Amino acid sequence: MLQAIGLSKVFSEPARSLRDIFNKEARRFYALRDVSVQIGEEEVLGIVGESGCGKSTLARTVARIYTPDKGRIIFMGKDITHLNNRELFDARRRMQIIFQNPYSSLNPRRRVSDIIGDPLRLHGLYEESAISEALRAVGLDETYAKRYPHQLSGGERQRVAIARALALRPSLMIADEITSSLDVSTQMRILELLKRIKNEYRLSMMFISHDLAVVNYMSDRVAVMYAGEIVEEGPSHEIINNPLHPYTQALIESVPDPRKGWRPRVKEVEGDHVSPGCRFAPRCPYAFEKCYAMRPTLTQYNNSRKVACFLHQ
Ligand SMILES: Nc1ncnc2c1ncn2[C@@H]1O[C@H](COP(=O)(O)OP(=O)(O)OP(=O)(O)O)[C@@H](O)[C@H]1O
Ligand SMILES: [Mg+2]
Repeated sequence: MLQAIGLSKVFSEPARSLRDIFNKEARRFYALRDVSVQIGEEEVLGIVGESGCGKSTLARTVARIYTPDKGRIIFMGKDITHLNNRELFDARRRMQIIFQNPYSSLNPRRRVSDIIGDPLRLHGLYEESAISEALRAVGLDETYAKRYPHQLSGGERQRVAIARALALRPSLMIADEITSSLDVSTQMRILELLKRIKNEYRLSMMFISHDLAVVNYMSDRVAVMYAGEIVEEGPSHEIINNPLHPYTQALIESVPDPRKGWRPRVKEVEGDHVSPGCRFAPRCPYAFEKCYAMRPTLTQYNNSRKVACFLHQ
């Protein structure tokens, strides 16, 4: 369904001093560095990692909201890396992104029926029954069609966002932190809804969250991101039961346990954009000399798993 090969995306950090303004090169950093992912038909790939590691940048690059600085994106057998907006028209319908914040992703001045209907009209797929069908699929009755976004709860808004995406009959759904603004029980209901829809509509999915437990629940495979790179990848249950990368281990250990009182084990260190070594080394409890001198690449560990760490190479 989707193959991203060696994607890199470079941004410039905002200047913090007058000298910075003229030193553009020094402010450049990789939001994505050489990231490759594959999603099979009806497969859910989970992407997990802490805030700022590049998850949304990956989603936006794969969906060609951004153009990658390096690498290729193959979607349904077609290279979409350098297509222009007109050429992307069809791919955009088949690959739907749902964003984190349901308050900003729905036009406040449009009724739900138009929020769902507008993209259908654009693609020449509009039928009156499509609106109520999409609403029903996400567990909302027809009376919601007349409402405006401010008349919906956060969970209902996210349902409308899912309905809008679903109505377009996509093949791949990208869900970027879609439950992080919701309370725990609403989050659970949305996740269950998404799972059901995924099976019913036989979708492929990229499911993004900073919460490893949530990603594990939703995904067949998981890719763990750290500072713009994938550091570990494999089947969800194997990653959870036997994490190889020290960062993944820290992620699992830092899942809050109310009995223990939560304290993250690895301490925060300012990221160093120019270090030639492993990006995680400054925070890694096992780092040795080589880790500061060379960058480990994502390497096949066994049949199903990959890891970027010298401890395993
Ligand atoms: N359009 C942009 N221009 C410049 N820098 C950007 C841009 N978008 C993202 N960044 C930077 O790239 C890095 C990765 O951001 P990204 O939004 O992909 O992280 P994330 O993993 O989605 O984080 P979160 O979990 O908080 O959503 C951050 O340092 C961010 O500041
Ligand atoms: Mg994000």
